[in-house]
Amino acid sequence: MKNKEFFYLQYNKINWQNQEKTKINALVNNHIIQNIILKNKRQSIKIFDIGFGIGFFMKMLSEALTRSYNEITLAGCEPSKKNYDYFIERNSLKKLETYNKTFQEIKTSKKFDFITAIYVFPHFTLEDLDSIAKKINSMLETAGKFILVVANEKYLKGKLRDKRDLFIEKNTFRWNGKEYWEVLHYSDIPEIGKVIDYNREESFYIDLFEKYNFRLAERKNLDDKGFICTVFVFEKK
Ligand SMILES: C[S@@+](CC[C@H](N)C(=O)[O-])C[C@H]1O[C@@H](n2cnc3c(N)ncnc32)[C@H](O)[C@@H]1O
Repeated sequence: MKNKEFFYLQYNKINWQNQEKTKINALVNNHIIQNIILKNKRQSIKIFDIGFGIGFFMKMLSEALTRSYNEITLAGCEPSKKNYDYFIERNSLKKLETYNKTFQEIKTSKKFDFITAIYVFPHFTLEDLDSIAKKINSMLETAGKFILVVANEKYLKGKLRDKRDLFIEKNTFRWNGKEYWEVLHYSDIPEIGKVIDYNREESFYIDLFEKYNFRLAERKNLDDKGFICTVFVFEKK
């Protein structure tokens, strides 16, 4: 798709703010906080959330972190003005560093212990993924972790087989000498609306992050009210 802005501008037409009502992703967020982030036992912690939406994860995170850490740096970016303003107008979190920008536009020399991307990679086009993986590496401390959440590949295949009206197109592409597939499709989110996503073969993400000096530390499927995702934890070598 040529119009890259489409992927965040589409949030103007849907009601992502209803996430506060439906609590979609709360189970995944809780898993990330309790089983991955809070396992890091130190005095201070620095986290960057890519594409924070209405800040639902940031708020959950902030509540959990205040109980366990003395020094907390929470940062993130969100290019949709509608989502960004919704969060900024309602948020009371202190010491927050937010950018109303795409991740591609972020320029920082700061390093983080964790970077999270919860259902955001399906909004990146293929041509940007090498530079995005490289940037994530440069923004992490050594042994820092990148947490990637995408729709589970098998679940998605089944869903697009049963609901043909959600399917748009499937492409194959060559990257680093190997062939992979990606599928462009609608995701129909209850009480929120339909968004268009690019989902890719899971092995592609493993190969992509291995190329940029990460090792796969963990891979887990989670079922959130019938919607299955894959959570990858990549550790910077
Ligand atoms: C499915 S929502 C998920 C929001 C949030 N991570 C959550 O779990 O609630 C995807 C978000 O990615 C944002 N997004 C789209 N393109 C982006 C880009 N290039 N850089 C950063 N975020 C982007 C969208 O505006 C949207 O808010």
